[in-house]
Amino acid sequence: MANEDLFKKVISHAKEYGYIFQSSEIYDGLSAVYDYAQNGVELKKNIREYWWRSIVFMHQNIVGIDAAILMHPTTWKASGHIDAFNDPLIDNKDSKKRYRADVLIEDYCEKLNIKAQKEIIKAKKRFGESFNEEEFVSTNSRVIKYKSQQKEILERMARSLENEDLADVKLLIEELGIADPLSGSKNWTGVKQFNLMFGTKLGASAESAMDLYLRPETAQGIFVNFLNVQKTGRMKIPFGIAQTGKAFRNEIVARQFIFRMREFEQMEMQFFVKPGEEMKWYEYWKETRLNWHLSLGLGEENYRFHDHEKMAHYANAATDIEFNFPFGFKELEGIHSRTDFDLKAHEEYSGKKLQFFDHETNKNYTPYVVETSIGLDRMFLAIFSNSLKTEVLEDGSSRVVLKLPEILAPIKAAVFPLVKKDGLPEIARQIIEELKWEYNVVYDEKDAVGKRYRRQDAVGTPFCITVDHQTKEDNTVTIRHRDTMRQERIAISEISNQLKNATSFKAWLS
Ligand code: GAP
Repeated sequence: MANEDLFKKVISHAKEYGYIFQSSEIYDGLSAVYDYAQNGVELKKNIREYWWRSIVFMHQNIVGIDAAILMHPTTWKASGHIDAFNDPLIDNKDSKKRYRADVLIEDYCEKLNIKAQKEIIKAKKRFGESFNEEEFVSTNSRVIKYKSQQKEILERMARSLENEDLADVKLLIEELGIADPLSGSKNWTGVKQFNLMFGTKLGASAESAMDLYLRPETAQGIFVNFLNVQKTGRMKIPFGIAQTGKAFRNEIVARQFIFRMREFEQMEMQFFVKPGEEMKWYEYWKETRLNWHLSLGLGEENYRFHDHEKMAHYANAATDIEFNFPFGFKELEGIHSRTDFDLKAHEEYSGKKLQFFDHETNKNYTPYVVETSIGLDRMFLAIFSNSLKTEVLEDGSSRVVLKLPEILAPIKAAVFPLVKKDGLPEIARQIIEELKWEYNVVYDEKDAVGKRYRRQDAVGTPFCITVDHQTKEDNTVTIRHRDTMRQERIAISEISNQLKNATSFKAWLS
């Protein structure tokens, strides 16, 4: 299936099977805002839990908090968001469409990257077993040309944005001949900065109201609580504070379904370290986070690191873990070495000391921070789109199946009576009564069993359990596995064990 078709299928499947709805759909929706439906909310909750356990439960020196969305407005002055949380935007005069200038340039560079990759694939085919990719990449003139062009362009863009030289960003777009992806026009306006924070007011009367912002990242709720958590939790450096929660950005170029939303959820962790040790921990978290992604089995080839040329205002090293979405490799998670920028800034603006007292040296210092930050909705999209498959079966028919990792599947098992009589529904309901304490399970008696299997395949339910007449004789049922469609006969008393083996955090996370 072409990537564009696959993406359309992902969006329609998400709606049809109760995962994601457009927000306020009856009023024609609100752009780049989405609601999670009955199955979506379960998948999202399970992803959040999978992250939380891996970060908080698996590290004795990491604790979680849940800070408020509304924060004192000085927070955003200190963090630099009021002055610097901008996107460089450019309009096309003919199509009247608005784009992020940096994204247009990055997309151009990605095309160069794809050209280089094509050369590598061609050479791999030509040379077969004896192919040495490293040597080829460092000697082939075309690959070298594409890679160095890409590097030069990204470095120039980073420099221009850093120096606020927006005229040069426009010039770069013109020099590269970048056209509006929709209309093909190259008739561009100048580049302008646009602040992404949503403003709101606190207070009853217009005179006394205080200007507030909806938080654009959860991280600041962690920084302002650094000392509270460190003291009350008796935390010693290095230690981390984790948080999941909503963030809001007035994304002007909001496209690609739940990839770029105006209201979204982040899962962030700030790891406080001794100054000078930040690069060691930066590498540690790069590896640890990639391993977390790989543990879900979506395919190693679907991830890559993208080290930043243009750093955010607070970072001294930064990388993205990119995922191969249906529209190409894009950022899924950011790992940033944020130095002591945030704690120092909050110290300055609040007048409160945000430092750690080191008993070994009898000295105070401001810790450095390594941050891991992943969008929950983006993770949802990565998993959902990667899991959606259309398979041709042996008999020539096809099935649509959502091969979600079992640990994340919204419904772990569906229980069916073969027929709606002879006491079979009662046994099926009794099985549900037993399983429901540990697992989200559903009962289904409508249509032929084959049709019920297809329904559960499309929802992503890993197990279907069928109660038939033999069950009445020997207390066994048929359990059918979603991915292989294999069926086996097991004792009712064994069902819970099978579900446990397939969905235990220990098995998936270790
Ligand atoms: N505290 C650092 C921070 O917020 P970021 O790179 O701006 O860094 C982190 O955001 C992650 O949040 C991204 O990697 C992405 O997964 C997610 N994210 C950011 N903006 C988003 C949006 N508009 N919609 C959905 N997810 C978003």
